[in-house]
Amino acid sequence: MKGNGKILVVDDEQKNLLIMESLLAPRGHELAFASDGAEAIQKLNEDPPDLILLDVMLPDMDGFKICKILKGNEATRLIPVILVTSLYDVSDKIKGFESDADDFLTKPVNKHELLARVRSCLRIKALNDRLERSESVLYAFVQAVEAKDRYTVGHSERVAKYAMDLGILAGQDPSTISQLKQGGLLHDIGKIGIPDSVLRKPGPLTADEFEVIKEHTVIGEKICMPLRSMGGILPLIRSHHERLDGTGYPDGLSGDEISLPVQILGIADTFDALTSDRPYRDSMPLEKVVSIFNKEVEEEKFDADLVQIACQRFPYWLEDLASKAIPGVREVVETPV
Ligand SMILES: [Fe+2]
Ligand SMILES: [Fe+2]
Repeated sequence: MKGNGKILVVDDEQKNLLIMESLLAPRGHELAFASDGAEAIQKLNEDPPDLILLDVMLPDMDGFKICKILKGNEATRLIPVILVTSLYDVSDKIKGFESDADDFLTKPVNKHELLARVRSCLRIKALNDRLERSESVLYAFVQAVEAKDRYTVGHSERVAKYAMDLGILAGQDPSTISQLKQGGLLHDIGKIGIPDSVLRKPGPLTADEFEVIKEHTVIGEKICMPLRSMGGILPLIRSHHERLDGTGYPDGLSGDEISLPVQILGIADTFDALTSDRPYRDSMPLEKVVSIFNKEVEEEKFDADLVQIACQRFPYWLEDLASKAIPGVREVVETPV
């Protein structure tokens, strides 16, 4: 956020825009104005503000709808929205919260109330910006680790995509889906702490080397632990190599100790490992991948229902992979010699 923050004021009445300008401009906020929903969305996309003061009654669409669009878009969802309404109505407030608005103001706007709400929303935006910067740094670390090796380029991004897809089909709620995305992107961040000589060893690993590789789960958890926003994804990072029969790592968890989202990520990760080239073998064909998963189900490593859903999606995932011509990748060798 630059300076005192940029505020987009949306109202179809010129006089209301002027009132807002007279109250906010002296506080050093940069202001932009829009008089209907279409103009608001256009300005939002062109130059995203730090806060939106959004009139509920607009000529082309109501504020609730605009708010819903904003909050449903990854690029704009963290911009706080204060709904401004002349209808002081409980049902309006409920509708507003349902559209994920951050706060409300009632017309005629009280100057002190407006300034207090604006201040607190901009404070939240500044914190979110900082958080996003920290997350971007972590994603950049992951990409840096993957970029060192043509076999791992894009692995985390694909795992995130597969895990989200499987999560949706397995009926997970939106907040879990977003954790699967974040967890997929960061699940192997701990590899940053594994020596290159082990991480990129072209042949099979010795038992000692495999012990070193296992550490990436615990290192990854430690890296992300200080970020409070990462709380929900720590189990995904630590436990993505756990298996239901207790043979996984690092904790040898079994059965119900492994949550469904962790199992989903494990399947997505394994799928990408199997369908990726390795220095000593090409990616596996679909039939072989399916037969390996079926064997894992027989051995009670993966959940049968989850694998059944995943198998239906495998062809689509491969199609996506082919259409984007993503280079083949290699997950680290998952079994010791
Ligand atoms: Fe991993
Ligand atoms: Fe992985």
